[in-house]
Amino acid sequence: MARVLLGVTGGIAAYKACELLRLLVRDGHDVTPLLTPDAERFVTAHTFEALARQEAARDLYPHLADADLLVIAPLSANTLAKLAHGLADSVLTQAALAVRAPVLAAPAMNVRMWEHPATQANVVLLRERGVELIGPEEGELAEGEHGAGRMSEPDAIFDRCLELLSQPRASTRLRGKRVLVSAGGTREPLDSVRFLGNRSSGKMGVAVAREARRRGAEVTLVAANVAVAVPAGVETVEAPTAADVAREVLARGDADVVVMAAAVADYRPAEPTATKRPKDTGTWTVALEPTDDVLAELGRRRRNGQVLVGFAADEGERGLERARTKLTNKGGNLFVYNDVSRTDIGFESDWNELVLLSAAGERAVSRRSKEECAVAILDEVETLLEGD
Ligand SMILES: Cc1cc2nc3c(=O)[nH]c(=O)nc-3n(C[C@H](O)[C@H](O)[C@H](O)COP(=O)(O)O)c2cc1C
Repeated sequence: MARVLLGVTGGIAAYKACELLRLLVRDGHDVTPLLTPDAERFVTAHTFEALARQEAARDLYPHLADADLLVIAPLSANTLAKLAHGLADSVLTQAALAVRAPVLAAPAMNVRMWEHPATQANVVLLRERGVELIGPEEGELAEGEHGAGRMSEPDAIFDRCLELLSQPRASTRLRGKRVLVSAGGTREPLDSVRFLGNRSSGKMGVAVAREARRRGAEVTLVAANVAVAVPAGVETVEAPTAADVAREVLARGDADVVVMAAAVADYRPAEPTATKRPKDTGTWTVALEPTDDVLAELGRRRRNGQVLVGFAADEGERGLERARTKLTNKGGNLFVYNDVSRTDIGFESDWNELVLLSAAGERAVSRRSKEECAVAILDEVETLLEGD
């Protein structure tokens, strides 16, 4: 029996949540209804309480946060926006911030509300934070219109709930560990407005930070111009240049696990100017000087029991060979190689394909989402921590 929180918001499809609740209860689960005040304008709390055989929650009492799953059906445009921005004005929105369990949500709304750029931007934010959306489906809408906005059918939501409940819960083996992750790509000033940068979006490092947080770690993210939202519960330190990354990472370099996923510049302009260089017809020759090798410095300082993970963004078989050399030269215990010459993985993509290199050997991680790659990396980190 799993502990399920059923969030219901104010929309026509609220009546369908009764059927979802019935399916979950019939399958033996302990379901606590969490209704927004507006949901009660559509279906009374009594209906849900009778079906759940327990009272709808009115306060976020602590045991709610320990649930195995939060499913929100229907999810209104209003609550979707609140969840994306972290508002906590009802027991449902409070629970959504507090639970560590997977969150599944079934949006239901008018097609124009669904397609509005504000809603779509909120959807992106929610997905980036790991909320899974089911639907909405295309079809006849309550107001007689046609389009995307219908809530998925209760049996489809129920099936997905069972799949999520059958997945092993994230391990909590990182609980009490301090994990430092760097992510993104540094920008090295040429003058006051121009910079030399790289295409790293920070998605891979942010996925590692999120997964480490999910496993109970205390996570700090040193963020070099990351283009994606930072996960809730992760302390973030902005570090736009290679020098900033070096300073912020080395200041926290005694963490139990350090994951250097940021694409830190190897070279920076030797003499950036403080003001904008005016345009002229001549060529502009820029001298580049090497930056400090943060990973090598972390390797020199690595203490017993500490796990140091380096990333090797390189190209082809020769790049993999260079990653093998780094493993022996840089003092890290795990190297993550990915081939940045490919366009279907790596920089800016939501996908990656890795080779994990450690003293124990090499493990290929086939093409999968960066979230799933983060799971593979942290599984390896946990094995290394246990080995020590
Ligand atoms: C008859 C009626 C039907 C509605 N249906 C929906 C709907 O399907 N989806 C939606 O996002 N909002 C719908 N709304 C608007 C929401 O009820 C409104 O935005 C409300 O503030 C949602 O509050 P909540 O998200 O806290 O439950 C409807 C409103 C009315 C009066």
